[in-house]
Amino acid sequence: MTGLDKQTIRDIDAHGKRVLVRVDFNVPMHDGEISDDTRIRAAVPTIEALRAQGARVVLMSHLGRPDGAVVEGLRLAPVAVHLSELIGVPVTTVRDCIGSEADSAVAALEPGDVLLLENLRFHSAEEANDPDFAASLAKLGDVYVNDAFGTAHRAHASTEGVAHLLPAVAGLLMEREISIMGGALTDPEHPFVAVVGGKKVSDKIGVLKNLIGKADHLLIGGAMANTFLRAQGYKMGLSFVEATSVSTARAILSEASHAGTVIHLPVDLVVASHLSSSVETFIVGVGMVPDNTMAFDIGPATTERYADIIRSATTVIWNGPMGVFEMEPFAAGTIGIAQALVQVNGTTIVGGGDSVAALEACGHADSVTHVSTGGGAALEFLEGIELPGVAVLRDRAGTTTH
Ligand code: 3PG
Repeated sequence: MTGLDKQTIRDIDAHGKRVLVRVDFNVPMHDGEISDDTRIRAAVPTIEALRAQGARVVLMSHLGRPDGAVVEGLRLAPVAVHLSELIGVPVTTVRDCIGSEADSAVAALEPGDVLLLENLRFHSAEEANDPDFAASLAKLGDVYVNDAFGTAHRAHASTEGVAHLLPAVAGLLMEREISIMGGALTDPEHPFVAVVGGKKVSDKIGVLKNLIGKADHLLIGGAMANTFLRAQGYKMGLSFVEATSVSTARAILSEASHAGTVIHLPVDLVVASHLSSSVETFIVGVGMVPDNTMAFDIGPATTERYADIIRSATTVIWNGPMGVFEMEPFAAGTIGIAQALVQVNGTTIVGGGDSVAALEACGHADSVTHVSTGGGAALEFLEGIELPGVAVLRDRAGTTTH
């Protein structure tokens, strides 16, 4: 199963070459400390493979959204220190990603050395996909590798522009993300169950539409389930309902029923008068939501039903929490889904920022087949959108870059 029809670092001879690698080191930082290094660890296999080939590795990334200004708190030096610990060799840094200091640092690299350029988004030209900026980056490499799946939905200079100027291939993380998620979307082993949660139907319409006709069962949770329940005529009390998406929800239900995908909605809900970790909660059946309460989680009967369907699946994709899992009284639904997911005998994929955080909060992140490093990128990929940072890479049928 390979969902990636692009060349990868396996198709190039990187020996002695300057390999310019776009990584996604946009990691959460608190008080100058990296609070989650998942994305850095995910890039290590590509970096190690290139070093093993004798490449001079030039890494580039963004961090945060400095909007074209130098923001001291968004320098990549702490990331370089952490990466150096992970790979056991020095990782040098420069104070700008282009210009004379970067040129000299790259020229000084020996085979196997690693350099991390400064935050690309200190230049507004990065997000503008400015051709001159892309050319300045391209000067720093002989070959370009995109391993930044998390940023592949952005057509920026370092993800798209530069790929037109150098032989451009995918890194191992990019390959893994696209092969596993793409494989599940194009050629899933059935039963294929998709679990979609989150707040708004409007944020997930693309994902829902793309899954209809592919998934055998679509389990809906989170506040977006309220909108579907309203579309079915249920009173939802004070619950968040996206009024402008009620007709969309109705259309999705109708489309699914014609396409062989069974949509499952909550049969019970956890409700409360307001959102607080100390509030009194009630479990009510759908249609029984009191006028003065709001739904904040799927109920236990729903969790049990959803868990049964998940456990009987061979392929599961999960995107979006079932409730306000950050608060203990409303976490049970999401925890129940995570627990069922790790019992699946098959391929289990978790995509998107919130569901990954939920899985980690439940301590199950290591027990699934694949946890995507993409937030927005994973969502767009699950919507079936071609990511510009992938589209621009060399096709597998093309010539190699020896
Ligand atoms: C992400 O964290 O989703 C990626 O790094 C992309 O960041 P962005 O949304 O700021 O472009």
